Order: sequence, then C-alpha cells, then structure tokens
Amino acid sequence: MAQKFDVVVVGAGPGGYVAAIRCAQLGLSTAVVEREWMGGVCLNVGCIPSKALITAGHFLDRLRNDAPEMGFKLPKGEVAVDMAQMQKWKRGVCDRMAGGVEQLLKGNGVTVLRGEATFKTAQELGVKSSSGEESVTAKNFIIATGSRPIEIPGFAFDEKLVLSSTGALALADLPKKLVVIGGGYIGLELGSMYAHLGVEVTVVEAGKGVLQGAADPDCVQVVARKLKKTGVEVLTEAKAKSWKKSGSGVEVVVDVKGAARAIKADKVVVTVGRKPNSDQANLKGIGLQVDERGFVKTDARRRTSVPHIFAIGDVACQPMLAHKASHEGVLVAEVIAGKNRAYDAKTVPAVIFVDPEIASAGMTEEEAKAAGHTDLKVGKFPFAANGRAVSMMETDGFVKMIADAKTDVVLGIHIVGPEASNLISEAALAIEMGARLQDIALTIHPHPTLGETMMEAAEAALGHAIHVIQKPLAARKEGAPGLRADA
Ligand code: NAI
Repeated sequence: MAQKFDVVVVGAGPGGYVAAIRCAQLGLSTAVVEREWMGGVCLNVGCIPSKALITAGHFLDRLRNDAPEMGFKLPKGEVAVDMAQMQKWKRGVCDRMAGGVEQLLKGNGVTVLRGEATFKTAQELGVKSSSGEESVTAKNFIIATGSRPIEIPGFAFDEKLVLSSTGALALADLPKKLVVIGGGYIGLELGSMYAHLGVEVTVVEAGKGVLQGAADPDCVQVVARKLKKTGVEVLTEAKAKSWKKSGSGVEVVVDVKGAARAIKADKVVVTVGRKPNSDQANLKGIGLQVDERGFVKTDARRRTSVPHIFAIGDVACQPMLAHKASHEGVLVAEVIAGKNRAYDAKTVPAVIFVDPEIASAGMTEEEAKAAGHTDLKVGKFPFAANGRAVSMMETDGFVKMIADAKTDVVLGIHIVGPEASNLISEAALAIEMGARLQDIALTIHPHPTLGETMMEAAEAALGHAIHVIQKPLAARKEGAPGLRADA
C-alpha cells in the first residue's frame, strides 16, 4: 500500500528541505525523499565544506602574510598544514549542519524517506533503498533534485586524478600542484583556497578572462591581481585537450591561444559548470517539459507543465544558487497551501568566495544601460579609506553603487573586499525596497564598521563622499555619464 501525503518533495537540499518544512508549517502532510545527503550538495559537498576550507586557507594566508606585521612571531616563520585534521574538522562542520536539517524536518513532522525516487506515474513515486522499494502518492510533488558537475570529453571524473568539485573538497593529502580547468565560481574558489594552503595552482580558462559574466568587471580585476600575488597562474583562451598519467600524477595538455603546452601536476580539477538533474527520476517520462539547457520548465509559481508538480532550485532555472532555491521552496509551499504568491524577486544576490570576496546585487553598468537607464550615477568607495578595513589589514577592494541618474533609484551594488558576502544583504534589501541613493546615504551606519563603505559609496554617487576626495560639482562635465569617486 502506498503511503499518501499532501506533498512529497524529491530532494533534501536547500530547496527541498526548506520547501518541506514550510509545507509542514502550513499544515500539509509532507514527506521528503533523499537518496544521498541530508542538506544536499550545499551542506555536504558544496557551499558549506568549501567555505570551511576557504576559511582555513584565508586563516593560513593571514598568518603567513599579515601576522608578523601585527606583532606575531611564528616558529621558524612557517605553519604546517595537517590535512587529515582539516578534513576531519570540515566533515564535523558538514555533519553538524546536516544533522540539524534532519532534526528540523522531524521536529516539524516531515516524514523523511531515504532512497532513490523515480516517478511511476505522475501521481505515484517509487522510492528504492537497500531495504526494498516503497510507493508514495501525493496531491502535489515538488522536484528539488539539483544539479551535477559537467564533464568534458577525455576528462571523466575518477575522483583520484581527475576530480570534480566533490573530490577536490575531500583530498586526504595536500597536493603540491593542481591544474584547475574552468575559471568560474568553483574553479577560482577552490584554486584560491588551495593556493592559500600553499599548493601551486594553474587555472585553465577557455574565455578571455576569469569570472566572465559572473561579476562586475572592475571587481574581477581586483581578484585577478590578488590571484597573481598569491602565485596562481591563470591561462586564458586556453582549453584542456587531454591528459595522461605521469608518475603518481597527471600531465595535462592544454591549447593556449593555439599553442600546445603540457602541464604536470598531482591532480586535475574540472569545474566547467553544472547541469540540472532533469534526466533522472523519470521526469520526462511523466510529461515534464525540459528546455534546451536541461532546466525543467516552470511558470512564475514554479509550476511545471504537469499542474500538480512543481520544480525549484538548480533543476528549474538559473541562477544555480542555494538561497534562490530556498526562496523558491517557501514560495511553492505557500502556492500549494493556497496563498497568492509568485516569484517576483528583484534581485538574487550572488557571492563568490574568492580573495577578496566578490558580492553583487542588481545590475552592472552595462546591464543597466541595456535595460534603458541611459544616464547613470556611479559611486565607488575604497576599503582603503575605511577605518575598520585598515584595522583588519584588509584594504583591497571597493563598494560600487549604480543608480539611475534621473531618479537616484539604486540599480546595482557590487562589492569586492573584506566581508563582501555579509555586506551584500544591505544591498539586496535596498534594491528589493526600491531605495534611492539618499536612503542609504542618510541612514546612520555604525562606526567603525565595514558597512560604512555602503553609506560612503552612496554619498560618492551623489558627489559628496566624506572620506575620498571628489572633484567639485562645477568641475564635472555637464551630462557626463556617472559621477565617479575613483579614489
Ligand atoms: P561557472 O559557469 O561559474 O564557470 C565555468 C567556467 O569554465 C567558465 O568560466 C567557462 O568559460 C569555463 N570553461 C568551460 N568549458 C571549458 C573548457 N573546456 N576549458 C576551460 N574552461 C572552460 O561554473 P562552475 O564554476 O562549475 O560553477 C557552477 C555553478 O555553481 C555556478 O554558476 C554557481 O551558480 C554555482 N556556485 C555558486 C557558488 C557560490 O554561490 N559562492 C560557489 C560555487 C558554485
């Protein structure tokens, strides 16, 4: 006999588990099916373990480079990395978070079913586990099955020599040299992290530069400079062609601007993007439409082409970000419970945990112009002029604020610098609420904090930041696009 529920959620990642909890809060009988990890990729092999290791790398980088100036004496000037202990600590962080998710689900009365879910019909789901197969039926289903790393021809993941991000986050020993194929989000987060831990890193990027289209170009420049300083080699217009074993490691052949180059390393990490898991669970078999990029087609309520089935997170649409998935999880639960909701977020903030961090909300200047905002006010405020950043010895970077010149409505905020990941929430709130530059500039920001850079970037866009010297208004060319504080 099949168990019956109001809602069955497939996948317990940050989309699925949040959807399940919200459904239960709304009084719906709810089950969530998970084949592998409670908390999904995010908590187990993605956001959380990578941030743990990135924190460790940053810590070591600061010990090596900043601690002596702050007055610390390191024994023989060196700190050894105990990779086994670091992995144990990282695993503890993930397990603690994943355990918390399971407790939250159970505490809210959600039934957790462990196993691989496959739709038998649009109304019935089979759940296969080592103890057999059971069936569940539901009035509504929520597909939250996520995405997986893309492989490139000739570089099938074996997680020993050719690693996906999952393998790259689980290395038992610290390698001496890594080749990273793909200079996007994951490649640069992992590449910077390993470089901080003392590994020699070469990034192979097919495009003309790293993080293309992923962040404001001015922000990327700051990170590119730091990559160079950290010793990361970045090859652009470069494509990895093949690899072979070389001793206990690899030799990767790369085409760099038409010339072949062989690079020896301990391992090669492939991070060229992720693809939606829409080819699993028999989604197409029950009639769900999928677009040309593999995303399950949905409307603004995240309803699929089969009306009682919804899809959220990486399997549904870009951006493939955990917080977007969670937002959609709450949204869909409320739609199922009969609330009049639709996806209407003005911005999905994004963070790239490189060094320094990049975070953004809203449009770049290019995007703003393309959207019809022909005249912009652009203000930039450097962390080097912020007391808290100076006292932290983290002065690289800036906050850039972009507003429509006629209305002063804030269109985009781009941050590169210390704690950009935490500062960006103010930016997202400002954009979501339709704030003008004056709303941010006239809000008292506490001193001494990094947050003051937001206020001063707004002031800079208005032409009167206090802690940078801006040209007097009269000296500015009438009608010049954007008033800049390029200090
Ligand atoms: P990505 O799309 O960010 O970057 C892939 C890069 O690989 C691109 O720069 C592309 O030009 C390059 N590339 C593609 N094929 C290549 C080839 N054959 N040779 C050399 N370079 C090649 O993809 P990534 O880094 O795998 O991340 C996937 C997604 O995961 C991101 O788009 C993001 O949505 C998400 N993510 C989010 C994070 C965060 O929020 N902090 C962290 C990590 C991932």
